Amino acid sequence: MTSVYAFPSTDQLSEALNQYVEKISAEAIKKHGRFTVAVSGGSLPKLLSANLKQNSRIDFNSWHIFFADERCVPLDHEDSNYLELKKQLLDPLAEQIQPGAVHTIKPELSPEEAAEEYMDQLMAVFAAGDAVKFPVFDLILLGMGPDGHTASLFPGHELLSENIEWVASISDSPKPPKDRITLTFPVLNHAHNVAFVTAGDGKQDMVQKIIEEPEHELPCQRVHPANGTVSWFIDNAAAGKLNPV
Ligand code: 6PG
Repeated sequence: MTSVYAFPSTDQLSEALNQYVEKISAEAIKKHGRFTVAVSGGSLPKLLSANLKQNSRIDFNSWHIFFADERCVPLDHEDSNYLELKKQLLDPLAEQIQPGAVHTIKPELSPEEAAEEYMDQLMAVFAAGDAVKFPVFDLILLGMGPDGHTASLFPGHELLSENIEWVASISDSPKPPKDRITLTFPVLNHAHNVAFVTAGDGKQDMVQKIIEEPEHELPCQRVHPANGTVSWFIDNAAAGKLNPV
C-alpha cells in the first residue's frame, strides 16, 4: 500500500516525518527490542533530523542505523552520507545513539570489498546465528533523484536486476561520486516500512510520473515491499503536478 503525504512547507514535512519515525521506532522496540533503520544521503538527513534530533520521546539507545547507500569516500569527506547524517543527527544525539550502532562503510576498501564488508555488518545484526535470506529493516528512508533513482539504483543500470546480493557496489554512478555501495532491491522490498522523502519543485515532474504512471518501472517504482508499507513525505512544491484525489 502506498500513501502520499504532502505539506505546505518543509518544516511541516519534517515534523510529520518526526512523528512517523517516532511511531515506527516505538512499535519496533516494543515488538523486538530494537529499531533498525537505513538512511539515504542527499537532502534526506536534514529533512529527517530537523525535529527528530529534539525528540525526547524516542529511545535512540535501541537504534541500529545503516546507510541505504554510501559514497566510497573517507568518512570525513564532504560527499560522505555518514558525515551529513553525523552533522544533522548523530552529533546532536551523541549521548543517546551508541557509536557501535551506526554502521559505516570501510572507506579504505575498494567498492567491491566495501560492499562485501557491509553485508557482513548487516549479517551480524540481522542474521546472528540464523540463516536469513534478506535483512528485514523496520524502516528504510529513501530519497528520489530527478531521474527517478533511489539509493544508488539508477534507471537502466544492471543493478536493477540484482536479486541475490544484499549490498552491491557501483563504479559508474551517473550522480557523482562514481564509486558507491547500495542496498539492493530485494533488501528494500523486504522492509516493514519504506518512506520516500523529497521536496522542491524540481522534483514535481518525477513525483507525478512515479506516483501516477506506474508503467515506467523507474527505480522508485520498483520499491514495493511484499509485507510492508510505502509512504511518500513531500512538500506541496514537489506535489505540484499530482492530480487531486
Ligand atoms: C546519494 C543519495 C541519493 C539521494 C537522491 C536524492 O547518496 O546520492 O542517497 O539516492 O537520496 O539522489 O537526493 P536529493 O534529496 O538531494 O535530491
